Amino acid sequence: MSLKAIKDLLKQTIGLNVGSVGASNLERAVRQRMKSLEIHDVHAYSLKLRQPDELRELIDEVIVPETWFFRNPASFTAVQQFATTRWQGRANGKKLQVLSMPCSTGEEPYTIAMALDQVGLQPNEYQIDAFDISQRLLTKAKRGVYGRNSFRNKENEFRDQYFDLVGGIYVLNDKLRNAVNFQQGNLLDKYFGVGGQIYDVIFCRNLLIYFDRDTQNAAMQKFHTMLAEDGLMLIGHAETPDFLRNNFTRSEYARSFSYNKLAHAKPVKASTRFAVAAPPPATLKKPAPAPPRAKPSLEFLETVELKRADQLPQTDAAVLRDAARLANRGELREAGALCENYLRQHPASAQAYYLLGLIREAEGKHPLVAELFKKAVYLDPNHYEAMIHLALHLVRYGDADSAKKFQLRANRVLSRKKPE
Ligand SMILES: C[S@@+](CC[C@H](N)C(=O)[O-])C[C@H]1O[C@@H](n2cnc3c(N)ncnc32)[C@H](O)[C@@H]1O
Repeated sequence: MSLKAIKDLLKQTIGLNVGSVGASNLERAVRQRMKSLEIHDVHAYSLKLRQPDELRELIDEVIVPETWFFRNPASFTAVQQFATTRWQGRANGKKLQVLSMPCSTGEEPYTIAMALDQVGLQPNEYQIDAFDISQRLLTKAKRGVYGRNSFRNKENEFRDQYFDLVGGIYVLNDKLRNAVNFQQGNLLDKYFGVGGQIYDVIFCRNLLIYFDRDTQNAAMQKFHTMLAEDGLMLIGHAETPDFLRNNFTRSEYARSFSYNKLAHAKPVKASTRFAVAAPPPATLKKPAPAPPRAKPSLEFLETVELKRADQLPQTDAAVLRDAARLANRGELREAGALCENYLRQHPASAQAYYLLGLIREAEGKHPLVAELFKKAVYLDPNHYEAMIHLALHLVRYGDADSAKKFQLRANRVLSRKKPE
């Protein structure tokens, strides 16, 4: 078994598109495992990988466990509003059923519990199920012991309420210690979520970004079946806008990156089932067929507005905001024209290039997209979102090597970034 075969194995087992974390990260992880087992050649190691325990060890090495409390606070405000105004179950004595998948070391599901506690829900009024593929991370989650890195926002008042500070470490206190049911689970497992609990709220943040498009679509379909008809689905800010094509519609909660189910589901193409058993592509260099044209997601465009508008002169920010609004309404041509016009006057605006890249991508004008994102990155070498979108675009169109370069650059930007 070669390194390529190990890549394929990881894709089949956990959906990992190695391009999204960088092949060098995989190589590092394999080397690391070989070193601890004192194995000197990849083939011998690959034989070892037939043992489930070793596969788990390798998975633990390659996954990205990055998480923190109140990551994107607007997501939790949305859940609070949903639980107290939209959700009808409380009046009938039902529990609010919440899923956090993947939960990593527990910061996300505990934050959900804190958010619900803040709006007066008692622990017997909700159930939070939290899954992750990694047993190691779940063990940490259950311990409820956290360092400073888990508190990255500027505002952390909640910490005094829910944690005891013991020797410089924050220990979850009794109030919410048992608020979350942690379980091991693989989203790609064909039995995961089948015929099981229906959830009022599903968090799946910062996982789909590591999947290829087919696997993302299959995951969205799975979540569609697991979500109550009037439920709320929350994803990460850099995640795919394809929810709009998979029978979801944007929710009313701004900046939360959340969706509701479409009232009348449309059939989704069979090609978007889980690709777990699909053979790997013949060659990564071969361009994939262009995906169908899509309306852009508001969230991506809101990201444009919110993240950078404060760095622009007021009038310029307003122009880009207008362009984003037009695009959100599906008026892509007008939005694109506004950006182009803006760029004629401000040829050094990384933000305008980034927005135009998103618009051209949504229009299906794929040959232009990479150049636009590249210009954004050239003009602003710290433009994380442009790098991530560029990397995803390159992977999608078969240029895994360049995608890897931009993914690594984006990782470096992220690790240099100050806490929110
Ligand atoms: C970046 S963390 C996201 C944590 C949290 N949702 C957040 O947004 O802060 C990604 C997590 O996905 C988990 N993971 C990766 N592949 C998975 C799979 N196929 N099924 C379940 N969990 C998976 C990893 O173990 C890791 O903890």
